[in-house]
Amino acid sequence: MAQPAFKTHQGMNDILPDETPEWQAIEHIIRDEARKFNFEEIRTPILEPTELIARGVGEETDIVSKEMFSFQRGDDNYVLRPEGTAPVARAYVQHHLEQRGGTQNLFYIGPMFRAERPQKGRQRQFHQFGAEIIGAADPVADADMIAYLQAVYHRIGITNTTLKINSVGNPQSRKKYRAALESYFKPHFNELSEISQKRFKKNPFRILDSKEPEDQDLIKKAPVMTEFLSDESANHYKKVKEMLTELDISFEEDPYLVRGLDYYTRTAFELISPDLGAQDALGGGGRYDLLIEEIGGQPTPAVGFAAGIERLIIACEELDIQLSKPKSTDVYIVTIGERAIKWAAAHLGDFRKAGISATMDYKGRSIKSQMKDANRENARYALIVGDNELNEGKFTFRDMEASEEDSISFAKVMQRIAQT
Ligand code: HAM
Repeated sequence: MAQPAFKTHQGMNDILPDETPEWQAIEHIIRDEARKFNFEEIRTPILEPTELIARGVGEETDIVSKEMFSFQRGDDNYVLRPEGTAPVARAYVQHHLEQRGGTQNLFYIGPMFRAERPQKGRQRQFHQFGAEIIGAADPVADADMIAYLQAVYHRIGITNTTLKINSVGNPQSRKKYRAALESYFKPHFNELSEISQKRFKKNPFRILDSKEPEDQDLIKKAPVMTEFLSDESANHYKKVKEMLTELDISFEEDPYLVRGLDYYTRTAFELISPDLGAQDALGGGGRYDLLIEEIGGQPTPAVGFAAGIERLIIACEELDIQLSKPKSTDVYIVTIGERAIKWAAAHLGDFRKAGISATMDYKGRSIKSQMKDANRENARYALIVGDNELNEGKFTFRDMEASEEDSISFAKVMQRIAQT
């Protein structure tokens, strides 16, 4: 086949009609579980002010320092949103959502953009679903939000996951921890991988994230964040773990879990799947009690997560989980001649008004080709209409699966379909 003149950009995929039913099934589950957990949907623009993301996510992070799709237009700087938390926090502040009263339990589904090197499970345009509970400091919010995440995966059938959890404390304790990490890694600087050597200078926490084999022994003996937690943070962490146990959600403590975004305080977690390969994080999140203040709002505690839908689909493929039914239509009207075409076009509406899916041939093809097309469309019934049928007011009604035919009136046709 000839090469097309235009293709999608690298790492940006079309979601084709054979794939959309799977996406719709997943989105339905995400929404339905959100309803049960009392999360309301929020939709924010794809483009946000660059400064919001830089301030919110953190200048030093990979996302801000090298992965933003940003541009200037007039005096404004735009960025294709790389994540949903800073935008939701902005919306909360901008629209005074606190005035609605109570905590704001919000969820979203939508595309995000990061200029990463594409590989399996890592795209430049990808989709997240996420939830944010804004206005609650209590550990029960952390646990309930994780329960929502787990409910979605369990309902889909993905149960073989590991919830890794840690506390990253507050900025004061992180400062002390950073100093401790620096003095621990410094004498070993030359043993570190090249990438960790760079991280040592910019952000030593990220060394803990390293997957390079030469770093692993050093990481295992590094000081852990939990030793530096304030009493309040340590207590919060303890209570989150107790709540998770209460909710029957199993977890693994990972004292080296650091997240790639700067806004986290206290709880940090990731949901890992062994079915994903190198990009094994189905989702992640945590508490961000200082973000809203950082972007100009009142001090407001908050906790949330986001999870990648493409990765969820990869896990479904690996586990042979099929969420969508094969494409099908209820009735295919096979037409013979002009009069029948007019009749069919007019009567498609009767089926559709009755909630029955119906289609017809648009190309004036032979009966044989139309029957073939009805099979391709996976039609349950074919309704064959020609001059004779129209004169007599009786139509050939064919049950495609049983290969049985009847000659019946249109009213009977409607009745028969309604009964099945
Ligand atoms: P994140 O860990 O950067 O967190 O992303 C969450 C999830 O999005 C990842 O675990 C992964 O499944 C998916 N993901 C991230 N980047 C890509 C990519 N390039 N290709 C495919 N999937 C990807 C956040 O975004 C935070 N906003 C989560 C959060 C919400 N924290 C608090 N509230």
